[in-house]
Amino acid sequence: MYRVKDITLAEEGRKKIEWVKANMPLLRYLEDDFSTRKPFSDVRISLSVHMEAKTAYLVKVFRAGGAQIYATGSNPLSTQDDVAASLAKDGIGIFASYACDAVEYEKNIEDALSHKPHLIIDDGGDLIQMLHTKKPELGQNTIGGCEETTTGITRLKAMERQGILGFPMMAVNDALCKYLFDNRYGTGQSVFDGIDRTTNLIIAGKDIVIAGYGWCGKGVAMRAKGLGARVIVTEIDPIKAMEAYMDGFYVMSMDEAAKIGDIFITVTGCTDVITKRHFTDMKSGAVLCNAGHFNVEISIDDLEAVSVDIEQKRHNITGYRLVNGKWIYLLAEGRLVNLAAGDGHPAEIMDLSFAIQLLGAEYIMNNHKNLPKEVIKVPDEIDQKVARLRLEAWNLTIDTLSTKQKQYLDKWD
Ligand code: NAI
Repeated sequence: MYRVKDITLAEEGRKKIEWVKANMPLLRYLEDDFSTRKPFSDVRISLSVHMEAKTAYLVKVFRAGGAQIYATGSNPLSTQDDVAASLAKDGIGIFASYACDAVEYEKNIEDALSHKPHLIIDDGGDLIQMLHTKKPELGQNTIGGCEETTTGITRLKAMERQGILGFPMMAVNDALCKYLFDNRYGTGQSVFDGIDRTTNLIIAGKDIVIAGYGWCGKGVAMRAKGLGARVIVTEIDPIKAMEAYMDGFYVMSMDEAAKIGDIFITVTGCTDVITKRHFTDMKSGAVLCNAGHFNVEISIDDLEAVSVDIEQKRHNITGYRLVNGKWIYLLAEGRLVNLAAGDGHPAEIMDLSFAIQLLGAEYIMNNHKNLPKEVIKVPDEIDQKVARLRLEAWNLTIDTLSTKQKQYLDKWD
C-alpha cells in the first residue's frame, strides 16, 4: 500500500539508498544485529521523517528487525520522490510526495497512522499531534515512540506539562550523540550546502546573520566563519549571546542586524524572528533562509504584505520586490534550507542519530510498561554504545581507566 509521485523513479532512489548505506556503518551493524534478533517482530511502526535516502535506510533497518512499517515525510519540501518510490517498490507502506499541499500532507500523516501503530518515530511532532487531536482512535495500540528534533521535543514537553501525553516518548534529540554532532556539525555543513546549491553565491566577505546560537546555530556560525564570512549572531538568551560573543562573533538585535546582513539564517525553533520592520530595513539583494524545523521563523505573510511584486527567480529562490523598491530573496519558501534545497545532513552524521533512534525504539518496546507517560531521556548506555561503535568504525582507540585511576577518582580525602 503506497501513495508516491512516480513509481518508475524507484531505481534512482535505490541507488541513493545504496550510497548512504555504504557510509552508515552503525546502521549496517544494527541491520545485521536486528536481522538475527528480530526485536520488532510483528511490531507496527509509523514514521514521519524527512523522506530522503538516509531515513529510507533507517526504515529498512527497522524492517530488518521484523517491523511492519507505514511511513510519511515530515516536511512537504524534503521528500525525494525517487527515494519514496524505491521504498514503495520494496513493499513498504509509504505515503509521501515532494511539494504536496497542506491537505495531502495531512492525509499522508493520517494514512501513515492508519495501521494503528505500536511505535511512533516522529520528526517535529506531526504524528503525535494527529494522534492527540483529530485521530486518537489510531493510537489505541501505541505504547510509545521516539522524537528526533528539538522542536518536536518542545511540543512534547508542552503536552507533558498539560498532562495529555498518552505514552512515553524518547527525546532522541537530547542524546549527546545526537545534538553534539547532528545539530552542530550536521546543520553547520548542510545549511551551506543548501545555500550554495540554490544561490551559487560566495560566502567569503559577506555579513551572515544567524538567529539562534543553540546547537544548530553554533554549527552554522562555525562554518560561516570558516568560509570567510563576518558572522553576526542574534539571541534572546543572555548566556548564549555571551557564548557567541566570546566565540568571536558580533552580537546584536535583529533590528540592528537587519540593516547589515547579506544572508540571514534563522535557526531558533521560535516564530516571527524576522518580520515586517526587518524586511523594510534590509539591503536590496539580501538572501533569507531558515534552518529551524517549521517555516514560521521568517514571517512570509509579512514579507508578502510589504511586497509589490513576487517572482520565482530560479528553483527554490523567490524574489520579493518591496514597496520601497528593494529586492529580498527567500530560499526554499522559508522551509529548512538544508533539506528542502539539499540532501540534509551527511550520511555519517545521520548514522549516529538513527542508531540512537533504533536503540531508543527497542528500549521503549522493552520497557514501556515501567515508563511514565512523559518525555524520556535516552539512557546513557545507549549514548555510550553509539559513541563506541562510531569510534570503532573510524578505527580509533581510546584509553581505559586502570584500577588505580578509578580508585584515585573515587577518593575524596
Ligand atoms: P536550541 O534550543 O539548542 O537553540 C535554539 C536557540 O535559539 C536558543 O539558544 C534560543 O535562545 C534561541 N532563540 C529562541 N528564540 C529566538 C529568537 N526569537 N531570536 C533569537 N534567538 C532565539 O535548538 P537547536 O537544537 O539549535 O534547534 C533549533 C531549531 O532547528 C529547532 O527548530 C530544531 O528542531 C531545528 N533543527 C533543524 C535541523 C536541520 O536539519 N535543519 C537539525 C536539528 C534541529
